[in-house]
Amino acid sequence: DKPLKIAIAGLGTVGAGVIKVLNDNKDLMSARCGRSVEVTAVSARDRNRDRGVSLDSFTWYDNPVDMASDDNVDVVVELIGGSDGIAKALCEKAIENGKHVVTANKALIAHHGTALAKAAEAKGVNVMYEAAVAGGIPIIKALREGLAGNGFSRVYGILNGTCNYMLTNMRETGRDFDVILSEAQDLGYAEADPTFDVDGIDAAHKLAILTSVAFGCEVDFDGVQTEGIRHVSPIDIEFAEELGYRIKLLGITSRQNGTVEQRVHPCMVSKETPISQVEDVFNAVVCEGNFVDKVVLQGRGAGEGPTASAVVGDLVDIARSLSVPTFSVAADKLEKLSSASLARH
Ligand code: NDP
Ligand code: HSE
Repeated sequence: DKPLKIAIAGLGTVGAGVIKVLNDNKDLMSARCGRSVEVTAVSARDRNRDRGVSLDSFTWYDNPVDMASDDNVDVVVELIGGSDGIAKALCEKAIENGKHVVTANKALIAHHGTALAKAAEAKGVNVMYEAAVAGGIPIIKALREGLAGNGFSRVYGILNGTCNYMLTNMRETGRDFDVILSEAQDLGYAEADPTFDVDGIDAAHKLAILTSVAFGCEVDFDGVQTEGIRHVSPIDIEFAEELGYRIKLLGITSRQNGTVEQRVHPCMVSKETPISQVEDVFNAVVCEGNFVDKVVLQGRGAGEGPTASAVVGDLVDIARSLSVPTFSVAADKLEKLSSASLARH
């Protein structure tokens, strides 16, 4: 069978990770897909930067948007970031040209997911974004496919690896917020602008996406009530610990009749609950379905390997010609649910 040819835009933590997975697990991919998955083109800002992987056999593009018009590309993998600008232009162009899109960009999907889904479904191509939510945890597939027999009442969990890493380290070591944040940046966990992590915006992007997949509604990032961990101090963490609680940044989405309530904020979680034990860069998502009861998924929420694993999972689906709606129902059937206004959380 013909190889699946992919272009990778962005060769940072995730982009370089994807090339490593495809190199290391090449035979496994071919066996699982019935054809090979081959990188044909790449793009980043700095052509000369050492990324720990050889780029010699790929066509280099200074402008990633041009890759969307390359006849030797079936799938554009967008790993640049940002809700607008070049990432959006690239994905739109790829869809327009009948190419599938895989992205890890939660900001893009949270702001433009509905429009991209409509454009992609009209063209008969996929927009896939498993890596955008909860790193290596296959939560999108779980909600959209494995748990598709259920109506959901609530989905919640730890959705930001950087914040969980910081809260864990503040409790265990008592070190400064800024020192631990800079460590999370060095580990490749944080966003390019880490205020997105600490102010809860990244978790809110992810929650808005989960809401759409779980409840079959348009993505409504503006409807998420958002508070981050900037005001959580070591003394808060210490008091919580004494009282039998851990502080976790949770994202919670629930649906009642025609209304969704979406919120992200630090929570006191009893040390008796499994979610309180989810530490370091790990994320966990709890899905409450009307037949399955409760399903909990846990895994590394950020970093090179886990995120690249999720990106490659999407590529395998495309290589197998699997076609699924971008969210859980066809894009033109997504409901427009109103958001509960939360005066206080
Ligand atoms: P990095 O900052 O490590 O990498 C970004 C890449 O984009 C770099 O290679 C950079 O080039 C390239 N780039 C930036 N601007 C341009 C441009 N104008 N033209 C071409 N290339 C450009 O980010 P990450 O790999 O960490 O994140 C990528 C995406 O994945 C983001 O959307 C992020 O939110 C998401 N994500 C990240 C996770 C993580 O753990 N890091 C986890 C889940 C999702 P250069 O290297 O030359 O500067
Ligand atoms: N900055 C994000 C986090 C990356 O820390 O969770 C994974 O989406």
